[in-house]
Amino acid sequence: MNTWIKTLLTTGMLFLAAAVISSDPSLAQVKQLDPAAKVDQTNPAPDLHATVENQRLGRAYRQQPPLIPHRIEKYEIDLRVNQCLRCHDWPYSSQERATKISETHYMDREGKKLDKVSRTRWFCTQCHVPQTDARPLVRNQFTPDAPTN
Ligand code: HEC
Ligand code: HEC
Repeated sequence: MNTWIKTLLTTGMLFLAAAVISSDPSLAQVKQLDPAAKVDQTNPAPDLHATVENQRLGRAYRQQPPLIPHRIEKYEIDLRVNQCLRCHDWPYSSQERATKISETHYMDREGKKLDKVSRTRWFCTQCHVPQTDARPLVRNQFTPDAPTN
């Protein structure tokens, strides 16, 4: 190809790239519309939806991990700490009148019984979740299988 045309094409590509980058809003600096307004960064934004609390939430199918009928954002779960245990683990569950974690959670993957909640069940919110009063985005027509015998 002619070197002159090559140079022209390369320059054109560079201009195009520059135009795309500078027009991408995600790359632009976020500026406050009213610089004088004080933004309170200490108060969290209000919840859009209320958590469904203090009512029994049924199970949609027999094996379903029960839904959490209370808020959970204050209860930390990380590698060492699990604050759900202080109410749901034996023997605190009786004092707190919280459902005791079921025996299946005190077994390792080979079925060996353990004194403590198994590490395979450590991150409770993998399976248990609270509900909000948000309207479902799509209608759900799920019905569980009827028992076969
Ligand atoms: C301060 C105590 C407390 C803490 C901490 C707590 N819960 Fe609860 N939880 C309760 C009580 C009390 C109930 C029973 C509520 C009822 O029956 O109305 C309950 C109910 C539940 C249920 C429903 C059980 C069932 O059989 O229907 C689940 C699941 C649950 N909690 C999970 C969690 C998880 C996961 C965490 C941590 C993110 C957590 N809870 C932290 C007190 C607590
Ligand atoms: C891998 C999924 C999974 C994880 C992780 C898990 N659970 Fe469960 N959980 C279940 C299932 C499924 C059930 C219902 C069947 C059963 O009881 O084993 C259940 C039942 C329960 C119940 C009801 C017990 C009853 O007798 O009605 C409580 C309370 C509970 N889990 C709390 C917890 C807490 C607290 C954690 C975290 C320490 C946790 N679970 C972690 C799946 C899970």
